[in-house]
Amino acid sequence: MFGKTILLQPIQGKSLKLDVPERDDLIQFKPWMNDPEVARYLAQYRGYTVEDELGWFDNTAKQVDKVAWAIYHDGQIIGNCGLFHIDHQSQHAEYGVVIGQQSAWGQGVGTAILEAVSQYGFKQLNLRNIYLNVFMPNQGSLKSAQKAGYKHFGTHPEYAYIDGQFVDMWMGQRQNPALLDR
Ligand SMILES: CC(C)(COP(=O)(O)OP(=O)(O)OC[C@H]1O[C@@H](n2cnc3c(N)ncnc32)[C@H](O)[C@@H]1OP(=O)(O)O)[C@@H](O)C(=O)NCCC(=O)NCCS
Repeated sequence: MFGKTILLQPIQGKSLKLDVPERDDLIQFKPWMNDPEVARYLAQYRGYTVEDELGWFDNTAKQVDKVAWAIYHDGQIIGNCGLFHIDHQSQHAEYGVVIGQQSAWGQGVGTAILEAVSQYGFKQLNLRNIYLNVFMPNQGSLKSAQKAGYKHFGTHPEYAYIDGQFVDMWMGQRQNPALLDR
């Protein structure tokens, strides 16, 4: 399913919002998902078609084990993010994000979104724990996870083959702060 609208603080004067995507906006993802810089550290190894993206939209709308948002920055779609593999009984989920618009990188957007989605997971979905997986060379992703309070709990050695070498996967998790206070 898609998440309810979340308005974040503007970054460098530009609005930032997580919202249900407009179906037509999903067309933007084809060039992004086929951009080697964007896709380098994603667990995917094939090209994406517009139909793949529209299929993602249709499937996400139906599935109850995920909550996804489009990221709108300064009124333009720049990527998507969400909580996946939501286990309502055990109360945990995995975070994932793609900011496809490279000009939006390095401004704090990734960190702000991770914080907002984490709060949504803890307060709206009553999750106890959110986890994420980062391929070690992905320094932007690693830094934003650490800045948003995600703690290292394990390393999967040589998990992925990227650019001619096997790289480790950093596994991080954050607990619901309400549980830590008890
Ligand atoms: C990973 C990603 C979400 C980071 O988003 P972002 O908006 O660039 O992140 P932030 O601006 O919040 O950056 C967080 C920190 O990482 C740093 N950083 C960002 N990109 C970096 C890079 N390529 N190398 C080193 N540091 C980087 C920032 O400078 C910042 O550190 P600082 O606060 O000390 O200056 C974004 O680059 C992205 O979507 N990439 C493509 C898809 C992807 O890799 N998804 C994640 C899969 S786990």
